[in-house]
Amino acid sequence: MQAADIINKYISFFEEKGHKKITNSPLVPQNDPTTLFTSSGMQPLVPYLLGETHPLGTRLVNVQNSFRAVDIEEIGDSTHTTFFRMLGNWSLGDYFKREEIPWFFTFLTKELKLPLEKLYVTVFEGYKDIPKDTEAAELWKELFLKAGVDPEGRILYYGTDKNWWSRSGPPEKMPAGEPGGPSTEVFYDFGTEHDPKFGEKCHVNCDCGRYVELANSVFMQYKKQEDGSLTELPKPNVDFGGGLERMVIAVENQPDVFKTSLLSPIIKAVEKQTGKSYKTHALDMRIVTDHFLAATFIINANIYPSNKDQGYILRRLIRRAFDHFSRLEGENFVPILEAVVEQYKENNPELVDNFEKIKLTIIEEVSKYSTALNKARIFIVKKYPSATSGQVGDDLMGVKEITPDDVFYLYSSHGLSPTQIKNLGYTFDEQAFADKMKAHKDLSKSGAGQKFKGGLADQQEKTIMGHTATHLMHQALRDMFGTKLHQSGSNITAERVRFDFNLDRKLTDEEVGHLENTVNEKIQQNLPVHFEMIPTEEAKKIGAIGLFEDTYQDVSKIYFIGGDSKHSEDAYSIEFCGGPHVDFTEKVKSFKIIKQEALGKGFRRIYATVG
Ligand code: SER
Repeated sequence: MQAADIINKYISFFEEKGHKKITNSPLVPQNDPTTLFTSSGMQPLVPYLLGETHPLGTRLVNVQNSFRAVDIEEIGDSTHTTFFRMLGNWSLGDYFKREEIPWFFTFLTKELKLPLEKLYVTVFEGYKDIPKDTEAAELWKELFLKAGVDPEGRILYYGTDKNWWSRSGPPEKMPAGEPGGPSTEVFYDFGTEHDPKFGEKCHVNCDCGRYVELANSVFMQYKKQEDGSLTELPKPNVDFGGGLERMVIAVENQPDVFKTSLLSPIIKAVEKQTGKSYKTHALDMRIVTDHFLAATFIINANIYPSNKDQGYILRRLIRRAFDHFSRLEGENFVPILEAVVEQYKENNPELVDNFEKIKLTIIEEVSKYSTALNKARIFIVKKYPSATSGQVGDDLMGVKEITPDDVFYLYSSHGLSPTQIKNLGYTFDEQAFADKMKAHKDLSKSGAGQKFKGGLADQQEKTIMGHTATHLMHQALRDMFGTKLHQSGSNITAERVRFDFNLDRKLTDEEVGHLENTVNEKIQQNLPVHFEMIPTEEAKKIGAIGLFEDTYQDVSKIYFIGGDSKHSEDAYSIEFCGGPHVDFTEKVKSFKIIKQEALGKGFRRIYATVG
């Protein structure tokens, strides 16, 4: 049973129980400036968990590509990967614990045939007014008993640090408006020996690798309020998330995810290209595999390496993968990328079409990295002439100390991490550098806080205005450059609209003027904006455009701007979109382009303001 079989079994299991399959959302969330990557299946469902009606009903299932950048530098152990796939099933105010827990159990034990004696369960021990989840514990107990396994010692209670789930962590960290709730988790016991480095005694939440969390079912029934309290949502939801890679290690009883049928072909490609063995070079090979895999999916989501946001994460992944690949004395990494596509193309066939772009983007970034390293060497050699012979390249002759300010300069201007600078052969006061970084992060955090907090109502309105403006701009650009032009990403905050599209050159001043005028004209015409839920095929027939074509399978939410009849084909803009939008274009007030930039091969980015 391989990864693709597990996906199929899971989807069919829940489809049989009345769930509708929703397709994988983009890895880079659209129109959600608060988060860089989709990091769980529930993320695109937040509005529905808070009570919005979902077009496909109250029972949903999917497999979601996810990325967690929590700490890229941590990658290298046997179970973690930055990119992973999450199996998810949801009840939007429909079924609850009595249905969910037995399904969870049946899927693991009957469909995946995991041995019962290897499974351990945790439930919520309670917090303030929120009671201990004895109901979940009882349900698990009955299931184990019925299956002939003694539940004694298998069902354990934990607090908000382990058995509470929200996107921001435990209740005190949840911002107002955020949904969350107690969870129940299932762990798989590999029976390996405990490593005392991780504590005196082993337990399910121990990090020594003996127990691995397979899946987590969240009983999402609370919402954080402005005053810090938690109130019950109108209807309680279920949010189940199971790591596909974790299911694979359990099914194969293989504690090292890099040795499973899913990732070992990529490791083999690394071994082949470096002539080294995984047995003796596991750490480097895990990093190369994880980072090239994640970079492939991030580029596939139309992100290019840069010094900001997702682009910066991508840059770090590629550069770090390349560092470790070079340490292994590898020369050609392209076959590793080919191995990635080979392993993932069944569920992500678009990787095949995008392969040239993925490959070229990584090659280009690696070459920029080499240039940055050379520039760093020249900078240091010039600044510390007495310490070297003055020849570029000779700086590795001895270990030289450089100032934390210079390290910070190399980090912020050339994108070099402290480790990369150390690899060049320099030392520096690491604590002083860490303090500098912290001060810098605190500063940007307070900036981000200002950006996303103060005056939320007004911001919300501005963001919605900006969203409608992107639809107008999208159509205006297609009128100017033809229907091959399409949106490749967007990010909207109250301050500005950011819109990416495919075009291989800069817009001339005249074109910028024309684009602004067209959008402003449409704003002034005060066109009505409305949406309809229509069958996807029909939506395509009437020419609906957009990135979101794959958001829903059978039925799609389509936004119309202009036109006055149902399914109005005479509308100015028809686009697949989740919303929200203003109801009449006049509410956008005005539209102004403030900047344009190149993104990478054949892609451009426009920044604009509204209001
Ligand atoms: N939201 C939960 C998680 O990400 C379950 O889907 O783990």
